[in-house]
Amino acid sequence: MATTADERKLLIDGDWVETGGWVEVRSPYDGALVARVARAGAAETRRALDAAARAMESPLPAHKRAEILVRVAGALGRRADEAARQIAAEAGKPLKAARVEVARAMSTYTMAAVQARTLTGEMVPMDASQAGEGKLAFTLRRPIGVVGAISPFNFPLNLVAHKIAPALAAGCAVVLKPASQTPLSALMLAELEDEAGLPPGWLNVVVGPSSQIGDVLVEDERVKLITFTGSGTVGWGIRERAPRKRVGLELGNATPVIVEADANVDDAAARCAANAFSFAGQSCISVQRIYVHRDVYEEFKARFLPKVEALVVGDPADEATDVGPLISPGERERVLAWIEQARDGGATILTGGTLEGELLRPTVVEKPPADAHLACDEAFGPVCTLQPYDTLDEAIAHANATRYGLQAGIFTASLASAVKAAGQLEFGGVTVNEAPTFRADQMPYGGIKESGNTREGPAWAVREMTEERLVVVQL
Ligand code: SIN
Repeated sequence: MATTADERKLLIDGDWVETGGWVEVRSPYDGALVARVARAGAAETRRALDAAARAMESPLPAHKRAEILVRVAGALGRRADEAARQIAAEAGKPLKAARVEVARAMSTYTMAAVQARTLTGEMVPMDASQAGEGKLAFTLRRPIGVVGAISPFNFPLNLVAHKIAPALAAGCAVVLKPASQTPLSALMLAELEDEAGLPPGWLNVVVGPSSQIGDVLVEDERVKLITFTGSGTVGWGIRERAPRKRVGLELGNATPVIVEADANVDDAAARCAANAFSFAGQSCISVQRIYVHRDVYEEFKARFLPKVEALVVGDPADEATDVGPLISPGERERVLAWIEQARDGGATILTGGTLEGELLRPTVVEKPPADAHLACDEAFGPVCTLQPYDTLDEAIAHANATRYGLQAGIFTASLASAVKAAGQLEFGGVTVNEAPTFRADQMPYGGIKESGNTREGPAWAVREMTEERLVVVQL
């Protein structure tokens, strides 16, 4: 059995296990104990790896993998309300946003099932060279091996789905380490996969300290690929420590948006207000830096600020809430310090910058100095900046003035400006007339520069999780 009312076991080798120690999951909203989860260390991680390696000795055919993935999507749909409430409880994500996350996770599983059924290699045109005459050649896509997956707190269901569903589609067994603050959604997915008929060992979930679990995943040679979403320091550190593994990194961003003078200003203001503060800005693609053409700057401000001030701050379990807590008091203090730093450097706080109870109000900071954290680093909080500009070249230069490169956006009525921005913004994705917070789960999603080195989205992830094997046949 996976659970009692408030105690959760780990899934290792098809068994739900206790370990003698516990990790407490507390509500970021009021500190209440949500659940205790069995605490794993190096020994449990090695057992999980043994199980995963054993599982892969008996490959599952693609149709079975696809059927399991489809069943999980269906089961998630049936338990959608419970899953959303659990995300709200463990992550402090407002229910509205949590429900969207559950629907997205269903879509991630559905798309992964499609990949399981269609995964294929390529024909090589052998008579294109003299050497190939009389031969037939093609590639097979083989599962890369055991996948070590490390997922973050901010999308505790869907970013786990983006790791474990493509891995199963690709035919890889997984050892998953979810964020210790938010392991419950991952354990729910494990329960659903278990119930959907996934044989023992194909998915193992270990919750506990990164120092112990992460070290085993990095050092054990049976792990052929690590897929990591989280901080740049940890992610790039893993890549340096594991030069012989494939290491896929999804890291941060300081998401910029450009609003041109010819844009639909009200629509841009509405989309920016909705996407700068959702889940208190704790998404890598939360709108953070808004650059507005000087000709429409005051109009944008006049339309944007009332929309920000209308956002409901409060209990994530309340259906009306738009903005809840940050994941921890320490994170709230860091974001407040970044706002203070910008103010000390000459910026104006147009709204927010204060607490409502324990919660940081949505905050808009005007004209921060270029070297302020808010102007170039990832805020990961309910705060964005406004800055006027005179030319599109200047706006693009501002947007690119960061070490990150995940997604960026532009609002404009001009096709030429949109195409120019798409070509010159140094980001993995560019949205036009939509906030760069937009993500549909079949899209390729990932960054350049320090934001990462891979693309997620089932069709891209299964390619990462497989290797091409060449077959040459003498005819
Ligand atoms: C992330 O924070 O990178 C994930 C954003 C999303 O999936 O919407």
